[in-house]
Amino acid sequence: MASNFRAGNLGQIGHREYARSDATPGWEALEEVVGELELGDAVAFSSGMGAAAAVFDLLHVGAQVMAPSDCYAGVHALLADGQQQGRWQVDLVDVTDTAVAVAAARRADLVWLESPTNPLLDIADLPALCTAGRDAGAMVAVDNTFATPLLQQPIALGAHIAVHSATKFLGGHSDLLLGIAVADSPHLAEQLRHRREVAGAVPGALETFLVLRGLRTLALRLDQGQRSAATLAQRLVEHPLVTRVRYPGLADHPGHAQAAVQMTGFGAMIAFEVQSAAAADTVCASVRVIRSATSLGGVESTIERRAKLPGQGHLPPGFLRFSVGCEHVDDLWDDLVSALAQTGP
Ligand SMILES: Cc1ncc(COP(=O)(O)O)c(C=O)c1O
Repeated sequence: MASNFRAGNLGQIGHREYARSDATPGWEALEEVVGELELGDAVAFSSGMGAAAAVFDLLHVGAQVMAPSDCYAGVHALLADGQQQGRWQVDLVDVTDTAVAVAAARRADLVWLESPTNPLLDIADLPALCTAGRDAGAMVAVDNTFATPLLQQPIALGAHIAVHSATKFLGGHSDLLLGIAVADSPHLAEQLRHRREVAGAVPGALETFLVLRGLRTLALRLDQGQRSAATLAQRLVEHPLVTRVRYPGLADHPGHAQAAVQMTGFGAMIAFEVQSAAAADTVCASVRVIRSATSLGGVESTIERRAKLPGQGHLPPGFLRFSVGCEHVDDLWDDLVSALAQTGP
């Protein structure tokens, strides 16, 4: 829990004086674990947005940033702010159109990717886009929050940086905020650590401990969540009041084949649509086992109508994002069936 260390401790517990500059043993333990999982050098931050902001802070003024047209709303907001301040130019592209996205990656200084995207669950061809950006001299960062390193390893697919909101699956219990950026080289990790030190987005000691503890059950939680997600996605497809289901594990998902190439599982996030915004609100208001709440990746399932958030106008009005947790799959299904019944005629 220490913020400062006894002076002259050289050689005893490493050269540490002040936690914001020199880290604590707790942060380093977490960084070691996540670095091994993500095949790189991990740097922990106060939140996922803290980690993302540190990556954007590496850009020179006037840089060109490519990002998915569907990506986490907070990242869009940060990119829009920076563009307005004259810090960078943003090129939002549909990452499911590989030819268009490759062309955009070739003219970018930073290629920012998400796959599956939040919340549409679009799949990008990560090897093609990472190679295109890298070969053209861009820095390539992949937000790997939805997949986790157990299902997808961006650095192995060609990215320079994998970014996480550890607030979600890595922590896994909806009780903390923490972010991690994992660099493919010690030099890049050092640049990110410098951003953390000067901007001050350091992880909290308790949060760091809780993510380390959460990681011990990540495989179990994810396994349960994605098995239930696969079952529920299939059942939702057959439900008469559901107009569309998006889950990369469904054979007719447009990104299914690509997801199978670059992921070892399809994850615990589902998106589905009902006929209207009002019907989607009714589903959220009617669930009893599933929590009507924002965020995702917890042991408890959460559902949210994302189109109600600012900057999410591209989403269909009846679109619901559903994070599948560890409850019994039949309890989740019964809950969905009775909530959907409230939307009927
Ligand atoms: C994909 C993704 N990236 C980044 C973030 C930001 O993380 P945090 O809320 O920990 O700052 C979120 C949060 O919802 C997210 O879903």
